[in-house]
Amino acid sequence: MAEILMASDLVRLRRTLKEQFCCILAGPCDYTGRDMASSHKDHGITNREFNALVENLQLAMNREGVPFRAQNKLLAKLAPMQRDVVTR
Ligand code: HEM
Repeated sequence: MAEILMASDLVRLRRTLKEQFCCILAGPCDYTGRDMASSHKDHGITNREFNALVENLQLAMNREGVPFRAQNKLLAKLAPMQRDVVTR
């Protein structure tokens, strides 16, 4: 049975996610959040859940008309984070 995963502070999550995406795409911004291993270590995230996030992201990018090449650029930057986010 899947347990419910809740962010304790959605306003913060929205801000830090934006900062992080901006940073890894070489935008002019600073990431002020915690590192990926510390922020996810207590959540017991599986590969399946990680993949679900990637699929949702792709759906959102398609909906927004993000070109395929740009989508792949972002996904390629996120891929190495899997080893810090997935703990189960
Ligand atoms: C590459 C994939 C991912 C990225 C880039 C990412 C990014 C982030 C960032 C930037 C934060 C905020 C850190 C902070 O508060 O300082 C965060 C927190 C969090 N992430 Fe992720 N995440 C990823 C995958 C996932 C997945 C797959 C799940 C669950 C299925 C998840 C669940 C959470 C939760 C629950 C928090 C909130 C922790 C808290 O409120 O203390 N994340 N993530």
